[in-house]
Amino acid sequence: MGQKGREIVKMDVDELINLLNRAFSDEWLAYYQYWIGSKIVKGPMKDAVIAELTLHATEELGHAQLLSTRIIQLGGVPVLSPEEWFKKSNCGYATPDNPYVEEILNQNIKGEQCAIRIYSEMLDITRSGDPVTYNLILQILSQEVEHEEDLTALKEDLELMLERKR
Ligand SMILES: [Fe+2]
Ligand SMILES: [Fe+2]
Repeated sequence: MGQKGREIVKMDVDELINLLNRAFSDEWLAYYQYWIGSKIVKGPMKDAVIAELTLHATEELGHAQLLSTRIIQLGGVPVLSPEEWFKKSNCGYATPDNPYVEEILNQNIKGEQCAIRIYSEMLDITRSGDPVTYNLILQILSQEVEHEEDLTALKEDLELMLERKR
């Protein structure tokens, strides 16, 4: 990393890299949870749900990309092995044992709520310590907020539709 780029970081760089790697692990697990969910999901409104899950998968992978770039800029090494994802992850992985649309939506809504909580904490930590990371996290957090909103809207539509049929 360039000297000036390093000088503007006013916090413990190893600590920062560790936080970024934890979030990086979360993103890979979130990516796979969405990706595999989009393949196995079943039930009413399946097509709309598949479209949303597929889009979110792509965006989580984009977040992993952004985080890895920043980790490398800071002189760190992004997590090298999938086994490490589970050890470092904040939000973990919810296995989609039940492929019913509502279950899949609930699992992913929980995941987004965890991501929002973690990124909000990271904003507080980086606000004065590292403006570049702060800006990056803000960008990712905005998308996680959209994700939670999109999934919640789908769940509401699903519930309305099921109520009408009763
Ligand atoms: Fe993400
Ligand atoms: Fe997300």
